[in-house]
Amino acid sequence: MTTHTRRLALGLAALTIGIWMATAGNAADEKGGLTIPKDLYPKLVEHAIKNTQEAVDDLSAKKLGGDIKKFTIRKARNGLAMIATYTQITPDVDAQERATLRDAALKIIKTIDDDNYAAAKKQVAGLTGLKPDPKAKPGPVKFLNNFEWTEDVMQHFRLNKDKGMEIEAKLLKMALAADKKKEIAPKDMNEGFVLMLYQTAVAGAMAKEIKANKKPKTWVTDAEEMNAAAADLLKAVDKKDGKAAFQSLNKLNSSCNKCHTDFGVR
Ligand code: HEC
Repeated sequence: MTTHTRRLALGLAALTIGIWMATAGNAADEKGGLTIPKDLYPKLVEHAIKNTQEAVDDLSAKKLGGDIKKFTIRKARNGLAMIATYTQITPDVDAQERATLRDAALKIIKTIDDDNYAAAKKQVAGLTGLKPDPKAKPGPVKFLNNFEWTEDVMQHFRLNKDKGMEIEAKLLKMALAADKKKEIAPKDMNEGFVLMLYQTAVAGAMAKEIKANKKPKTWVTDAEEMNAAAADLLKAVDKKDGKAAFQSLNKLNSSCNKCHTDFGVR
């Protein structure tokens, strides 16, 4: 009863503990096992559409150059890739609806790659309230087909000034604030945090899909470590276990560093 009440208080009734089937070291499980609860799906999709919209607005309105243009393109591709991935891992939402959205998102990635930002802007606006296409094919589509995708996948961890969502800075700040008591405060384990953790976890699942050019086994192990830490953190937050959440948050942060060290980032 109490657990139930607490979940309702969090507004996350559908966030159950069995959301992850895969754990670290379970390298045989190709799929990764992350699924999105039905009630969080529209919020995550909406957030990603908004980010993508901002990016294509900037790309079509302004004469961007240099790094900012590069980061803005990454922001758009990140948003679209997130949308496509959400559609593929939310089993409890209508399959036709998801396949339609996925195909639309993947199509816009092509438009952006063709530098046709005005068209992309229109297409992104059309993502909201899309009618399910009966011809859209449900089932997974692999699109993370080269290592350069890593840059897009990592984009939302970057700082605002680099067109990111500052997720890395937020996670580190949170770990630092909780360090004294070795516990994450209940008020911080809110829905905003959970959404951010799903964004992080989905990035981990996407990273695992990407084939590394070098040290492919290390890459997969590192991605799995990140996925496992994110999964443990989500479970701890679901149970409002601040101490376990603190530990998992630290594990998550070190899993990022581990991969960055292994692959010479920074
Ligand atoms: C499986 C490997 C892997 C994992 C796990 C991983 N990263 Fe990355 N990350 C990379 C690679 C490779 C790059 C370089 C590509 C790029 O510049 O985006 C990168 C780049 C980044 C960047 C941009 C760096 C810069 O200086 O511009 C940030 C920020 C980042 N990662 C944050 C994170 C966070 C936060 C996590 C954990 C929650 C994480 N990463 C987990 C592989 C990984």
